[in-house]
Amino acid sequence: VTHDGPRRLGRRRLLQTGAAAFGGAGLGWSASAAVGAAQDPAPTPAAGAAADGAAVSSPSPGMELVPFRGRHQAGVGTPPQDYLSLLGLDLHDEVDAAGLSRLMRLLTDDADRLSRGLPALADTEPELAEVPARLTVTFGFGPRIVADLVPTRHGLSLDPLPPFRTDRLDEAWGQTDLAVQLCADDQLTLAHARRMILKDSRAFADVRWIQDGFRRATGDDGVSMRNVLGQVDGTVNPTEADPSFADVVWAGRGTGPAFAGGTFMVVRRIRAQMESWDRVGREGKELAVGRRLDSGAPLTGTAEHDPPDMDATDDRGLPVIDPASHLARARPREPGERILRRPYNYVVPDPSRPHGEDAGLVFVAFCGDVDRQFVPIQQRLAEQDRLNEWVTTIGSAVYAVPPGAAEEPEDPAAPTDHVGRGLLS
Ligand code: HEM
Repeated sequence: VTHDGPRRLGRRRLLQTGAAAFGGAGLGWSASAAVGAAQDPAPTPAAGAAADGAAVSSPSPGMELVPFRGRHQAGVGTPPQDYLSLLGLDLHDEVDAAGLSRLMRLLTDDADRLSRGLPALADTEPELAEVPARLTVTFGFGPRIVADLVPTRHGLSLDPLPPFRTDRLDEAWGQTDLAVQLCADDQLTLAHARRMILKDSRAFADVRWIQDGFRRATGDDGVSMRNVLGQVDGTVNPTEADPSFADVVWAGRGTGPAFAGGTFMVVRRIRAQMESWDRVGREGKELAVGRRLDSGAPLTGTAEHDPPDMDATDDRGLPVIDPASHLARARPREPGERILRRPYNYVVPDPSRPHGEDAGLVFVAFCGDVDRQFVPIQQRLAEQDRLNEWVTTIGSAVYAVPPGAAEEPEDPAAPTDHVGRGLLS
């Protein structure tokens, strides 16, 4: 299929009208049918029906869209997609606030188009943009950008995370200037979006690391995934539907208006010692977390979302949920000690390790105040957590995630917003 003018126009028109239906009411046709229709300048009956809101069955998964523009950046409250590619970039020395603004304008445009199933400008593989697969692109600024390039009048500050006793950090996975979190339900979509972002960043920044991750692509409900250790992971975690979500996630007190709608992202690369984990019996594994492996239920309950009873004792008078278990240690001590966890599994080849691979979590968490919310939990886990016998943090970084870019203005002469615009001017 060639991308001549009329076809692209036809496709664009469909994506602007039909696209809303893909994301909203949805279509019952397959991804390949949708793409075929998208390339046809004449609206097909299916597309027409969808634009009129007549079709109601759920959209084919690959055609679902997550809008990029809005008050908040996408990819934070978005129910986790199946795949992650997290990029850590360092700005070239000569890039100042104006330079970073130019980069963010470029990357905002890429992210906006690609999330709508449209090719990026000068996209060399436009066909690879056609399946948006809930692509989200989330940008974060590291402490150096906040300190050196964001004017102090914006009242934003970001300290590196303090050291934690159990950290065994490798600089190769350390703090970078910029983070770009790409997530999608399709790996080819993700690879293409990542390539566009990397190509457009090349004149401004170098890549320090790329952290790829995955969740189960066939069946998790999008909230409680299973991690590589086999545990149900994500049970006690706010969703956008929770009334407290905004308080937990979006920055409020202590950051100025230019950051309103923003959040902070903590990235921890946590290796799991699978070889020794393999040697632990199921009971030992369940005690370490305080939850069952099969259902994810607390050891005092039967269903995943049963509230744990921290006071329950067994017939020997011992606590059923060990006070040193991960559940007991990670639970909030203060009401504000809550975070949004959005972790992914990783498994990468590593011939130097006993089984030839390195596995663990790309632990990503969001919160409105790192020092009040994330740090006390991490401090407690570093002091004591049964899970520490099998997990080691080898990478650590923190980013300020600016608010989302505003919708395109109606007036074509008006300037288009980009991520970080308010903070960098
Ligand atoms: C490889 C490392 C980790 C693994 C395998 C892991 C696994 C789990 C599992 C299985 C649960 C219970 C189910 C759930 O509520 O999701 C849990 C809960 C939790 N984890 Fe982790 N976790 C890890 C690291 C961390 C880190 C670094 C933090 C934050 C500093 C953290 C914070 C929490 C919190 C806040 C909860 C919910 C506690 C509650 O209120 O019940 N976890 N984790």
